[in-house]
Amino acid sequence: KTRGKKPVRVYMDGCFDLMHYGHANALRQAKALGDELVVGVVSDEEIVANKGPPVLSMEERLALVSGLKWVDEVIVKAPYAITEEFMNQLFNKHKIDYIIHGDDPCLLPDGTDAYALAKKVGRYKQIKRTEGVSSTDIVGRILASAKAVKVLEDGFILSDTEKSNNAKEIPVQAGQAKVGYVSQFLPTSRRIVQFSNGKILKTARQLGEFLLVGIYSDQTVSELRGSHFPLMNLHERSLSVLSCRYVDEVIIGAPWEVTNDMIKTFNISFVVHGTVAESSSALNGKSDPYAVPKSMGIFRVLESPKTITTSSVAQRIIANHEIY
Ligand code: CTP
Repeated sequence: KTRGKKPVRVYMDGCFDLMHYGHANALRQAKALGDELVVGVVSDEEIVANKGPPVLSMEERLALVSGLKWVDEVIVKAPYAITEEFMNQLFNKHKIDYIIHGDDPCLLPDGTDAYALAKKVGRYKQIKRTEGVSSTDIVGRILASAKAVKVLEDGFILSDTEKSNNAKEIPVQAGQAKVGYVSQFLPTSRRIVQFSNGKILKTARQLGEFLLVGIYSDQTVSELRGSHFPLMNLHERSLSVLSCRYVDEVIIGAPWEVTNDMIKTFNISFVVHGTVAESSSALNGKSDPYAVPKSMGIFRVLESPKTITTSSVAQRIIANHEIY
């Protein structure tokens, strides 16, 4: 990788809207092609002009990209296409050696390749695009679940016969068998290891800090949110959380309650929860998940820095689509 002592600097740009593990996997591969990864986050205006408005704002997309463990530097409001002027800026000011993009065609509205110039001067490299996930696909999952929830809620307007026929076809209990739009994505152990490694982990360990994140099973999420959730399956959610630079380890399929056993086994000093969370009517009948750590005096509430939630993002998307 390293030519002599000078680090190899690579550049990857993108919209990174509705950040997902496909983006994380792209950045992971890009980082592996060099020593330092500089990421260009495309401006809202440039995204609007080239592919339509993003769901998340520049500020939100930037916060997500900066939180990924493979990202060393970010360039804000990057252009969508690598122009001659911007390319020279990358080479001279940012000392970039290679410009990287996924192996999917990236065309400008006029049909030309956004990376044509970089390719021409031999400073372009490619990584493998991750199948089965994209921002468009996530918007589709959100709309499909909103539609399904709406159909179930509207069930009462059907006639009695329709209702009973319907009831046979679509039982409405929580924890229902998985519906079609949920991804069948399965990570291999190698992929989990790839997502788990990062220099941040070492630093955190030296500081004596360690962040273990418990990720609920798909069944627990269905019980909480309804049968059309989660939008991302357990494996997808695990890779997304693992790609965050502040996370050391994840429990893949954590139980609803933090148990005494867990606290002992994982040697947990504090159990923390944010002030912002999804509200759920299903919570009423459920036990307090933090009863044990509370009784031990090791439960802490952290002020959530933002009010954004899965539902609030879904609301933005639904507001922009005629779905009913
Ligand atoms: N990428 C990838 N795998 C995916 C999605 C994106 O490897 N499933 C890569 C792209 O090839 C690109 C980078 O991630 O190099 C940033 O992609 P972005 O500009 O955000 O947009 P898209 O390629 O359109 O991805 P999406 O459809 O998810 O928005």
